[in-house]
Amino acid sequence: MTTVLITGAARGIGQELARQYVADGARVIATCRTEDAAAQLKTLLGTSDVHTPLLDVSDGASVAALAQSLGGTTIDILINNAGVLGEQYAFGTMDYDAWTHAFAVNTMGPMRVTEALAGHLADGAKVITISSQMGSLLRDTSGSYPYRSTKAAVNKVVQLMAHDLKPRDITCITMHPGWVRTDMGGPSASISPEESASGIRRVIDGLTLADTSSFIQWNGEPHPW
Ligand SMILES: NC(=O)c1ccc[n+]([C@@H]2O[C@H](COP(=O)([O-])OP(=O)(O)OC[C@H]3O[C@@H](n4cnc5c(N)ncnc54)[C@H](OP(=O)(O)O)[C@@H]3O)[C@@H](O)[C@H]2O)c1
Repeated sequence: MTTVLITGAARGIGQELARQYVADGARVIATCRTEDAAAQLKTLLGTSDVHTPLLDVSDGASVAALAQSLGGTTIDILINNAGVLGEQYAFGTMDYDAWTHAFAVNTMGPMRVTEALAGHLADGAKVITISSQMGSLLRDTSGSYPYRSTKAAVNKVVQLMAHDLKPRDITCITMHPGWVRTDMGGPSASISPEESASGIRRVIDGLTLADTSSFIQWNGEPHPW
């Protein structure tokens, strides 16, 4: 049975990924930030089998506790999905504490979680980090300093992790999930969480080690860095 660990599964894309993997019969570890959210997720998924440990990806102690709680569990697919959009902060109004927090969640979070769980990753595992097209260096647009910079940085982090985990045949990629109708994407976004999660799962299914260090969109097309 495939074991999938998804961070930030209380809502949005993470929740839908958890729902689809449970429906597919995978063993799902879906992290949430509060006991209430974890209980609600279990109810929503309609099974007590799904494991819903607490995790704040920006908190080293929380990440260490998750690793400890996993015991002898081996993970086949790790999806670093948790993320924050934060405020826009126009030039001249930057909130540096908020930017630091965005780095802790969006950039260092996937690294912290992957490092802490490395001992639980199966040889040949797949590590997927949900980034964003907004982090692409080729998109010469303005605004959203914290979000764009933290997603650009996590793309580089994934490239580096890919080198370090390649000797264990672990494939590391970064993905743009589409513009998705979640709390983050808003109601005008172009695709549903169902479409995004289905596409992400299709990409994951088809991954081989040859794909490591790629930036891929939810529909399977490569994304320019
Ligand atoms: N929606 C889009 O259009 C879009 C586009 C490009 C990329 N993305 C990326 O896709 C991923 C999922 O986005 P989404 O649209 O599903 O967002 P969302 O609806 O806002 O959900 C974000 C999830 O991340 C969790 N989270 C936030 N901070 C966390 C932390 N410190 N530790 C652990 N979990 C944390 C949230 O938990 P709580 O419920 O506890 O807050 C929530 O479950 C993110 O990485 C986002 O940047 C989304």
